[in-house]
Amino acid sequence: MDKIPFFRSEKIADGTYKINNDFITGFDINCYLVEGEKYALLIDTMLGYGDLNAYCRTLTDKPIKVVNTHAHWDHVGGNFFFDSCYMPVRDIATFQAYIGYSREQIFEIAKSASKEEYRDLLVLDDNFAGTHPIKVYPISDGDVFDLGDRRIEVVDCGGHTPGEIVLIDDKTRICFAGDSCNGNTLLEFDDCLPVTCYLENLKRLKTYAPRFDMMYGGHEVFDPTIIDEGIETATKVIEGKDDKHEINGLTGKLICYAYKKDQDGVNEGGHRFNMSYDPKNITGEDKRKQVIS
Ligand SMILES: [Fe+2]
Repeated sequence: MDKIPFFRSEKIADGTYKINNDFITGFDINCYLVEGEKYALLIDTMLGYGDLNAYCRTLTDKPIKVVNTHAHWDHVGGNFFFDSCYMPVRDIATFQAYIGYSREQIFEIAKSASKEEYRDLLVLDDNFAGTHPIKVYPISDGDVFDLGDRRIEVVDCGGHTPGEIVLIDDKTRICFAGDSCNGNTLLEFDDCLPVTCYLENLKRLKTYAPRFDMMYGGHEVFDPTIIDEGIETATKVIEGKDDKHEINGLTGKLICYAYKKDQDGVNEGGHRFNMSYDPKNITGEDKRKQVIS
């Protein structure tokens, strides 16, 4: 199993590691390990292929707490190698819906996602875990992870999911941004917030930007000016002045991208930021209270 490089890591700041799931094909996924005096915080856990807990043990000997920026599968899959996680309160129901897959099922999914050269080397061992129940602690805007010598603050930036958060580390001036604002921000899913609400959240995030120099996301890394591009783009969408580039989205329904993409998926016009959205979900309220029916 040593032949399979499930993870690769890079030190991006003092006591701060970017971990990449190098073993899969198709797209880049990152998570981050932030070490403090009292404990280490693992921000997101990627897809759950490979024993991420064991890998983190090679980087730190502190106790590890897990926090997720949101509950999409490619950010929470490795949670099942830990006993508990901290999760934005509005995304907990999405996370709980993943419970119940067997180790064998996860193994088969991993095989189909693996790079060709590793596929035949994979064996069903401790690098795969079923999606069993774990403790989930709700978090929301303003909560702080106090690691002793560094404090990391939770800031809401809902849009991509209702609960999406970013985490601001004042010590390193890094914003761990999840999927909140990047070159391929997805607002096309049925549970995404309307674009008008996302715009308000981006404007609010902008007020925090003096506290960070870099935004390390789940798939991409940007400097904070990407927020300005997000604000400009979401405004254009709301005003109907974007490209309205229609394609079939990830769930098969017809959605739009704000800016045209070329055949390779690259944004045209030199835009770093781009966003998908459901044309039926541009304006609306952020219904913060649940209706249980
Ligand atoms: Fe996501």
